[in-house]
Amino acid sequence: MSKELIEIGKKNAAIKAVEENVKKNMIIGIGSGSTIVYAIEIIAEMNRKEHLNVKCIPSSYQSYQLILNNGLELASLDQYPDIDLDIDGADEIDKNLNLIKGGGGCLVQEKILASNSKNLVIIADFRKNSEKLGTNWKKGVPIEVIPMAYVPLMKKLEKMGGKPILRMAQSKSGPLITDNSNFIIDVDFGIISNPSELNEKILPLPGVVDTGFFINMASRAYIGQKDGKVLVLQK
Ligand code: A5P
Repeated sequence: MSKELIEIGKKNAAIKAVEENVKKNMIIGIGSGSTIVYAIEIIAEMNRKEHLNVKCIPSSYQSYQLILNNGLELASLDQYPDIDLDIDGADEIDKNLNLIKGGGGCLVQEKILASNSKNLVIIADFRKNSEKLGTNWKKGVPIEVIPMAYVPLMKKLEKMGGKPILRMAQSKSGPLITDNSNFIIDVDFGIISNPSELNEKILPLPGVVDTGFFINMASRAYIGQKDGKVLVLQK
């Protein structure tokens, strides 16, 4: 797969999503990952040219830095608990706009923003959409857990039919530590026919902080295609 085509897909999706959804004076939730970088750069450019006066709430340390480095106004949920628009990437998007997120380890704060936003708009490239979750995204469903619970949770997730792996840090020995000081277990469940049902089984397990399933949350997904067009999926 050409890396250049993937990056063009991400950028085109971000341009269309920002142009169609960002309006003056909005409170905007900013997701995490590599695709959101394009969106924030476009928002920052529009903000400079058109004096948008938007306020941006980050979903991770990464997006906190992106907001500051692009000269946008940083805000918090404490100040603005009702978000107008949340823009974020995704690891996989199914035909019902259910998502797997958390490939970059930021799912908990991303879900908090999404759940307090009037509108969750997803931006992604052509590798991300599929009929059913688990088809294209093969790294498993990320689940953020309290560190002391990870071993029993891995056993329970295995009993549910998953193949759990504790995510390890890059360039540091040991497990990855999230922005919330937790661990992430990536669980391969194969192709997932009923993500909502699976999510409901995992969420109540003690020690689970949240899952990377975003069920019924996204209102629209902009998917940059190989030919330069942008496919818009809508609820
Ligand atoms: C961060 O934890 C994730 O949920 C990202 O939003 C998701 O992994 C998409 O990332 P990319 O835009 O880098 O593909």
